[in-house]
Amino acid sequence: MDSESYDFIFKIVLLGDSGVGKSNLVFRFTKNEFNKDSKSTIGVEFATKTVQIEDDKLVKAQIWDTAGQERYRSIASSYYRGAVGALLVYDVTDRNSFNHVPMWLKEVEENAEKDCLIMLVGNKMDLHEQRTVFVRDGRSFARKNGLAFIETSALDATGVDTAFQRILQEIY
Ligand code: GTP
Ligand code: MG
Repeated sequence: MDSESYDFIFKIVLLGDSGVGKSNLVFRFTKNEFNKDSKSTIGVEFATKTVQIEDDKLVKAQIWDTAGQERYRSIASSYYRGAVGALLVYDVTDRNSFNHVPMWLKEVEENAEKDCLIMLVGNKMDLHEQRTVFVRDGRSFARKNGLAFIETSALDATGVDTAFQRILQEIY
């Protein structure tokens, strides 16, 4: 497919604590790769992928992946400017990352466009034994706050395409 031909371009941002797997969700979606020893993102990284929705429309996702680490963040209204979708990611084995979701949500709501769609993403669902945040926790927070919700594993690819595909579809 010619990656330069598309009908729409949608900016999607990722946010959430450091180490929850934001960059690996992007690697998996855009390159079908996983990096076991990925380094913390510094600043912002960009990736794109063009996908087909509604039978015949090509949507180019322009993905912005930022650092969860406070010291690399200069949170920047420019990060959110023009974003039509946000994936707010936590790690199902890291309760703290889930406890910080309201803080991240506040940040998006204060900085993003009013119509930016937000999807809550519980990542690392492959780590069954270490899970401390349950599906019902994520789902109930999402429901109370009017967010879409999905669980994913960047490691084994579960839910990753679905997450991006669904948010692009809903934006469209
Ligand atoms: P920052 O860039 O610091 O904000 O972190 P990040 O959210 O981008 O996390 P990153 O993708 O770098 O992943 C952090 C660690 O978690 C890495 O060691 C990954 O290999 C691991 N990881 C990411 N996703 C998964 C997953 O779905 N399952 C498992 N088991 N490990 C994962
Ligand atoms: Mg990263």
